[in-house]
Amino acid sequence: MFSITVLVSGGGTNLQAIIDSIANGELKDAGVYIKKVISNNKEAFALERAKNNGIETSVISPKDYPDRAAFEVALKSAIDESAPDLIVLAGFLVVIPEAIVRSYPKKIINIHPSLIPSFCGKGYYGLKVHEAALARGVKVTGATVHFVDEGTDTGPIILQKAVEVKEGDTPEVLQQRVMKEAEHILLPHAIALLAKERA
Ligand code: GAR
Repeated sequence: MFSITVLVSGGGTNLQAIIDSIANGELKDAGVYIKKVISNNKEAFALERAKNNGIETSVISPKDYPDRAAFEVALKSAIDESAPDLIVLAGFLVVIPEAIVRSYPKKIINIHPSLIPSFCGKGYYGLKVHEAALARGVKVTGATVHFVDEGTDTGPIILQKAVEVKEGDTPEVLQQRVMKEAEHILLPHAIALLAKERA
């Protein structure tokens, strides 16, 4: 078996794609299971998705700690307690502290909603990525799964998938297409590859 801890901040459609793939897809065959879901946001719908599937959850919000350092220590403890084989950032909008990156070399992956190195790095997250892609007028965008290193979206690339930008797209429409055609396929596939590699 290959255990993963999934970090989330919002709607959790990528978490859902992992849950569905464990129930019914390639993650089932790869022996993957979710040990814990951790959110920095107690309102995240991703937490409901986890609870609906009997998965342990934990909320580590910066609002509950006196300073950033205390938040980062609590986040690291929550991850360490779950002792996962792999940490998956599935729409986690907090920059991972260096202490965590150093403790888990090549054991943290992130999904980003563009073809890195376009539209990535500081300030590029969620809908902002798609707003920037449309403002630049690119005709193709996509998603990337990469290992997390000390930088922001700078780690080695594992998988990428391109998605067409269509005439009249709004950021919301483009975001939905990138999720459906790329992210929700790519993220479970990357986890399966890493689980099989370890086996
Ligand atoms: C996804 O599009 C993910 O790629 C993005 O946030 C969204 C979360 O959606 N992540 C980033 O922008 C990270 N820089 P979800 O909560 O429905 O999975």
